[in-house]
Amino acid sequence: MRIIKAQDYDDLSRKAANIIGAQIILNPTSVLGLATGGTPVGTYQNLIKGYQNGDLDFSGISTVNLDEYVGLSPSNDQSYRYFMDTQLFNHVNIAKERTSVPDGVASDMDLECKRYDALMEGLNGIDLQLLGLGMNGHIGFNEPADIFEKTTHVVELSEDTVNANARFFDNIEDVPRRAITIGIQSIMKAKKILLIVSGESKRQILDQVLNGPITPLVPASVLQLHPDLTVIMSV
Ligand code: PGA
Repeated sequence: MRIIKAQDYDDLSRKAANIIGAQIILNPTSVLGLATGGTPVGTYQNLIKGYQNGDLDFSGISTVNLDEYVGLSPSNDQSYRYFMDTQLFNHVNIAKERTSVPDGVASDMDLECKRYDALMEGLNGIDLQLLGLGMNGHIGFNEPADIFEKTTHVVELSEDTVNANARFFDNIEDVPRRAITIGIQSIMKAKKILLIVSGESKRQILDQVLNGPITPLVPASVLQLHPDLTVIMSV
């Protein structure tokens, strides 16, 4: 495990983008696992700058996102597909057909879970997985549970997560209660993992993740077992 202490959020965002940028330069056909939420926004802004100044070429890159709310269509401005398009994809030369986000309005969610797992298999796995950290230790939408869920699944969001994400919605009642997320096994199979954690409020959970017991009650604690984990923190 490599731990990088950033001075502040801007520093964290630059450092994270540098690592992702290096991955793109060294392997222009990389498969990137991408995340949504507040933390990666600055990272994506720096990647867009890298594209604009000619350093980064996304034309051969494929991406797989971690999760999506159940019930939100891509055109809903709270959906994670909408987030990815507006925060990153629309501003770089990535081929949209090589970007994947789980379908939150699929008519058969079981089938959608299987489709998404098969899609990741077909891409030969993820070269670099970017992760944020939930206040309750979740990664993707793998919420605290009795077991580590291995594959893509539909999850009931915890009260903690609904409360934490309410800031993005007009009303807390509008926050979807279910989501589809890739599983812990898919995350752990990524060749490299980059975990970015910002804000004092995450200090305690980050300490549990990095130094506490490995337990599905703190899903991100499993990352201690990953052979190529980088953590960038400003907490
Ligand atoms: P945040 O969310 O970046 O908005 O804090 C992280 C997460 O829930 O994974």
